[in-house]
Amino acid sequence: MTEVAPNEIRTAELGALGAKVHDCTVCRLAETRTNVVFGAGNPDADVIFIGEGPGQQEDEQGLPFVGRSGQLLEKLLGEIGLTRDDVYIANVVKCRPPKNRDPRPDEIDACKDYLRQQLELIQPKAAVTLGNFSSKLLLRTDTGITKLRGQAYEWWGRLLVPTFHPAAALRGNPRVLADMQADFQTIQAIIEGKLQRRPPEPSAAAEEPDEVADPEQLDLFPT
Ligand code: URA
Ligand code: SF4
Repeated sequence: MTEVAPNEIRTAELGALGAKVHDCTVCRLAETRTNVVFGAGNPDADVIFIGEGPGQQEDEQGLPFVGRSGQLLEKLLGEIGLTRDDVYIANVVKCRPPKNRDPRPDEIDACKDYLRQQLELIQPKAAVTLGNFSSKLLLRTDTGITKLRGQAYEWWGRLLVPTFHPAAALRGNPRVLADMQADFQTIQAIIEGKLQRRPPEPSAAAEEPDEVADPEQLDLFPT
C-alpha cells in the first residue's frame, strides 16, 4: 500500500491524472462520448462513491451524478451531514456507453486502472459501490446487490459498502430508499471511526451482521 500523499500532492496528482484521462482513447467508448467523466469531489475524502458509468447528463456536463440519481445521492449525503464536495464521486468507466448499455468487459479492463489510481491517491476509509454493477465487479461476486448490501466488506485495505444505485430508489420502492438510508448510516459510522477494518485473522468469522466481513480475497485489481 502506498503512503498517504500530502493533500497538495494528492490534489495535483489527481489533477494530472484527470488531464490525462480527459483525452483517453483507449477503448471504443471514446468514439461516442461527449465528455470524459473522470470524477469529482474532495481529493481528501473519507469516502468515494463508485457508480457504473456516466449517463446522458453526465456525458454532456463532464461531471458524475448530476442527473436525478445525483440529486438523490445528494439528499442521502445531506441526511448524514455531508455534501457532494465532502466526498469523491467516480464511476467504473469514465465514458458513457451508448444508450446507457452496460459497459463491456474489455471496456472495464481498459478503464479500471484509472479507478485504481484514484483510490490510491484519495485513500478513502470507505468505498461505496452504487448498484449491482460496481458492487459485483469490485467484490468479484455474482451475488446480487439485495443480498450483498447491509454490511461492510474488507476490500483492498479499506471498507467497501455496497448499496443500491439511486436509480433503483427512484423507481419508487420505499424499501429500497430505506435500505439505502441504513447503508448511509454505516458509511457515517465508518467516517466517524465507529466501524473499523479488522486486522486480518485466520478465522475471522463473518456471522455477526454488524461486523465487518471478510468473505473472500476482495482485491479488484490484481497487481
Ligand atoms: N449513474 C451512474 O452510474 N453514474 C453516473 O455518473 C450517473 C448515473
Ligand atoms: Fe479511456 Fe475509460 Fe473512456 Fe475507455 S471508458 S476511452 S478507457 S477513459
